[in-house]
Amino acid sequence: MKLGDTHNRIARYLRIGVTDRCNLRCRYCMPAEGIDFAHRDDILSYEEIIRLAKVFSDLGVDKVRLTGGEPFMRKDIDVLLRSLSDVFAKVHITTNATLFSDHINLLKEIEISGLNISIDSLDRDRFFMITRRDSYALVMKNILDCIKNGIPTKLNIVVMKGVNDMEIIDFVRFGMEHNVEVRFIEAMPFNDDDGNRDVYMPATEIAEMIAGEFPSLQKLVADGSSSEKYTINGKQTVGIIPAYSRSLCSSCDRIRLTPQGELLNCLYAQTGTNLLAMVRDEKVSDGDIQQAIVDSVILKKRSGLEEEALIDKNAFRSMTTIGG
Ligand code: 5AD
Ligand code: SF4
Repeated sequence: MKLGDTHNRIARYLRIGVTDRCNLRCRYCMPAEGIDFAHRDDILSYEEIIRLAKVFSDLGVDKVRLTGGEPFMRKDIDVLLRSLSDVFAKVHITTNATLFSDHINLLKEIEISGLNISIDSLDRDRFFMITRRDSYALVMKNILDCIKNGIPTKLNIVVMKGVNDMEIIDFVRFGMEHNVEVRFIEAMPFNDDDGNRDVYMPATEIAEMIAGEFPSLQKLVADGSSSEKYTINGKQTVGIIPAYSRSLCSSCDRIRLTPQGELLNCLYAQTGTNLLAMVRDEKVSDGDIQQAIVDSVILKKRSGLEEEALIDKNAFRSMTTIGG
């Protein structure tokens, strides 16, 4: 059975937000004081996530990504990682790399398919200014450890004009030097006061800046992923994620499960299907859940622009509650 929508897309990739908590306070994501984090009883337990994961797997999902918040903030995340790697061929994690020094062996053991590490500056002071925490040295150490240990690692950089766009070329060079793919993400304005609108730099401009320094930059044919892929000299891969301009929605194969168990069809969807209520209702069978998921995905809008048009503008939104 497959999870299709009415725009010729099939969902095969589930992003699971395992927690909305985070130990950093990236300025584009959260206010300095944090947000109202969800109460423990209101988020899916590991048993519940695994039960849902199996249903998604039966529906053709073959790739999952743990996101957050910061996934390694959640207690005993190793237990979940082991179980998920038994269910899915591909398990990925998006992390800020501050907390997993002790988990590197596990990541090797389960042959993690990919680790995306967020790092928005190669400069300690600027890193602090963006994340409001002095964790640059730790993050860099962990990035280098992952590369050294052969863990398939990519770097995610949220680009903010006037804040860190002057480091774009440095990041490309860092990628070349360490043979790691760097991916530049458009900062998404989610709320009027998150400041992201003022620093927004579109994917096209990011590409122009890189091409200015590396004239051999060549765009590759779209591969269905969330990033536009480029190569430099046919070797170094660079990704640009049009998270806000949303030019890749037509090939989107992603769906999202929030920490609170809501199934969302899109990063810009505000409402979805409450699977937490279903797994906690003993009258609900796996078959019922399967049907609810099918019925939910079929409603996926053509694009994130269409989803966004339906959002209540007053509701606070953050990647951390949606599951980046
Ligand atoms: N715009 C763009 N990227 C964001 N992220 C978090 N919030 C935003 C935003 N408003 C990024 C994180 C991480 C990934 C999951 O999403 O930095 O790399
Ligand atoms: Fe934490 Fe990620 Fe949000 Fe930064 S972007 S505060 S690392 S959840």
